[in-house]
Amino acid sequence: MAAITTVLLEFLKPGDLLLFSSPLYGGSDHFIKKILIKFGVNVLEFRVGQSKEQIIELVKKSGLADKLAMVYIETPANPTNDLIDIRGSKDIAKHFSTPEKEVILAVDNTYLGPIWQHPIKHGADLVLYSATKYIGGHSDVIAGACLGTHELMKRVKGLRSFLGNMASPNTGWLLMRSLETLKVRMDAQAFNANKVAEFLNTHPKVGKVYFIGNLTEKDGEQYQIKQRQCLTNGGMISFDVKGGEAEAFKVLNSLKMIKLAVSLGGTESLAEHPATMTHSDVDHDLKESLSITDKMIRVSIGVENYEDIIYDLKQALEN
Ligand SMILES: Cc1ncc(COP(=O)(O)O)c(C=O)c1O
Repeated sequence: MAAITTVLLEFLKPGDLLLFSSPLYGGSDHFIKKILIKFGVNVLEFRVGQSKEQIIELVKKSGLADKLAMVYIETPANPTNDLIDIRGSKDIAKHFSTPEKEVILAVDNTYLGPIWQHPIKHGADLVLYSATKYIGGHSDVIAGACLGTHELMKRVKGLRSFLGNMASPNTGWLLMRSLETLKVRMDAQAFNANKVAEFLNTHPKVGKVYFIGNLTEKDGEQYQIKQRQCLTNGGMISFDVKGGEAEAFKVLNSLKMIKLAVSLGGTESLAEHPATMTHSDVDHDLKESLSITDKMIRVSIGVENYEDIIYDLKQALEN
């Protein structure tokens, strides 16, 4: 959140317009809708599935097209794994740029880490990470990262100094240690996630499974985006249990190896209930319309033997 909020505060000023994708991680959603607006920044949300032309129309209709300063996207989105077109978002930013004012594109790449998706290659100006997740990888560090051109990073670093949210030497040391194993950890997590999704896809107590690997040509644009920008299916799976909150809580409380916690991307598998945990503060109707309902469970797949992860999920579902 330090990296994300520093970028939003540095590149937006009162009167500007921020265009952002939905859903977002609950903390980012909260900062944009409840804090950024207190500083006079106008905010406009677009949904997965809206075409480039529809989004351009949405910005024009807001009457603030000339004020658009930043497009902010999170892809895949937490917790639904919805994909947003990075190249298309850059086209929207370019459409509203003028010689005097360049609209910048910032991409939260936390869900696919630095290994599985490379937003700068697709046109992003700034790439953001919760380094707490895959980069840190051991659930023992909280940090953020921001990447971009020297010119943009100079501004980010400047505001970071005034906000005082730079990482400590100890955090830096933990992150350097983690980078040595980043690829092997992430390879194992992506491998395991494919196996776990295969299991969930056919379990009678499981409804919809939200996993990038489940996208097929039938999913049209979402599948095309996956083919263009995702290098693996990632390590995050959300799924609906048949029933509602009580059934979802029962599964979560029955897990033995997988821990109940909100973080993600670490070596150990974690499970959580987005509607009441990571996304508890998101508007109820918006959550419903985005499929973040009481029956949804989100699992971050770790590096354990995939058979153990499946065994644990199976016994919890059948408990
Ligand atoms: C997609 C995404 N972005 C940002 C964050 C914020 O990360 P942190 O807790 O490290 O501030 C999270 C945390 O869950 C996240 O999932």
